[in-house]
Amino acid sequence: MGEILVFLGPPGAGKGTLASWYREKTGARHISTGDVLRQAVKDGTEVGKVAAGYMDAGKLVPLEVILDVLFEAVPNFSEGTILLDGFPRTVEQAEALDQRLSEKGLEVNRVVLFEIPDEDVVKRLSSRLLCPECGAVYNLESAPPKQEGVCDACGESLIRRRDDEPDSIRERLKVYWDSTAPLVSYYKERGKLIPIDASKGIQEVRAELEKVSG
Ligand code: AP5
Repeated sequence: MGEILVFLGPPGAGKGTLASWYREKTGARHISTGDVLRQAVKDGTEVGKVAAGYMDAGKLVPLEVILDVLFEAVPNFSEGTILLDGFPRTVEQAEALDQRLSEKGLEVNRVVLFEIPDEDVVKRLSSRLLCPECGAVYNLESAPPKQEGVCDACGESLIRRRDDEPDSIRERLKVYWDSTAPLVSYYKERGKLIPIDASKGIQEVRAELEKVSG
């Protein structure tokens, strides 16, 4: 029997990095709404055209768009372990997810909260690099590529995400504290929340995640 796992936390907390590791380790299906949206922007789809402006500005994509994106990416929640990274991000989204899951007799099983101070977020996002081809994520400080500016996995030139500019980082943090942080009490009240200290080094965060995620 699979389960539905959510990674919750501020931008740059390491959700995507740890989700990739968790997927490789467990075979879980990793759905990052941010990755799906970035692909849609790259492909120039209708969703991508709507989403691009919100994403660059660090704002949330509208509810109806993000629900379409999620339910298209995961038409059936009952197969295997599903790891949701970047969704839900508002109480409204969490309620829509609960509603959809309850129709199938399912529920969110566990929510791992990545806790990290804002100043660490700013440092991490200012030194993040991304491969536009295969999506691999690097960090000039903590996880640099072997060859400067080049993806280890596919050899493509690395780029900075457009929303990793200072104004956008500030807005994303504001959106997190205004709209996403209320999910902490939402899931705590339901007995699903597992906080971990995401400000530690990658190996330590992995070890903590391993302990709590079974
Ligand atoms: P999304 O892509 O989900 O961005 P995010 O949540 O802001 O998270 P990030 O991807 O920036 O950070 P992360 O926590 O994954 O950190 P990472 O592992 O890369 O969303 C982007 C946009 O899409 C949103 O702003 C919004 O517009 C839209 N969107 C997406 N979902 C939506 C939704 N549900 N509703 C509405 N709109 C939505 O790590 C960061 C850096 O730190 C990397 O360089 C990494 O190498 C490094 N690092 C990671 N862990 C460590 C560590 N322990 N120590 C040192 N360095 C580390």
